[in-house]
Amino acid sequence: MANLGVNIDHVATIRQARGTQYPDPVEAAVLAQLGGADQITVHLREDRRHIIDRDVRLLRSILQVPMNLEMACTPEMIRIALEVKPDMVTLVPEKREERTTEGGLDVLGQLSALTEAVTVLQAAHIPCSLFIEPEISAVDATLKSGAQMVEFHTGRYSEVSAAEQIQELKRISLACEYAHLKGISPHAGHGLNYRNVAPVAAIAHMQDLNIGHSIVARAVLVGLERAVREMKELIRLS
Ligand code: PXP
Repeated sequence: MANLGVNIDHVATIRQARGTQYPDPVEAAVLAQLGGADQITVHLREDRRHIIDRDVRLLRSILQVPMNLEMACTPEMIRIALEVKPDMVTLVPEKREERTTEGGLDVLGQLSALTEAVTVLQAAHIPCSLFIEPEISAVDATLKSGAQMVEFHTGRYSEVSAAEQIQELKRISLACEYAHLKGISPHAGHGLNYRNVAPVAAIAHMQDLNIGHSIVARAVLVGLERAVREMKELIRLS
């Protein structure tokens, strides 16, 4: 069964929308853990539009499950990761104007910067994952960087028609199989929700699923603990 990484960024989005101190993503992380989250994921963006430095540091000290820090490959973020020491880092592409992470990393295009970041972080015992498109060539490029894990971008899978979704699922399965064969732990995330998660969770060797927006959206209606528990159950049954 794949692990569920609950991304709590959008709890912080609501807080930042009004500049209040609530809702606190740290409290949300506690509830997500009670609901069965196997991991808590946060994305510290360069513009601090949702998660802020204080959240990352507090979460590091209170979490009882592993912490996955998503971040851009920049000197500032690498310095923060080395100080905070999350259980893992996922390097993602980041554009200021985007609404959310669009597309995977161009690993070959940025190979030297990514390799340097991965080398420094992994030498500090922080395993690294690269957020990439579900393509064999992207897995090969990841191998060159030395990263121990990949996260396949499921954004396209979550957006296309039902017919195209079958093709996309095949693409993710093949990339997953290939990563596993090459000794890289495969994860997936982006756009996964209560309707589309099961086929992705059922892919052989899938290690972690990182899910945020759909869980936080459901939590508004049914509460976070229940929203996490329902997602865990869908993954368990797939
Ligand atoms: N994985 C990565 C690398 C992401 O950047 C995001 C979005 O921050 C997610 C997973 C979660 O995506 P969603 O909020 O659509 O579930």
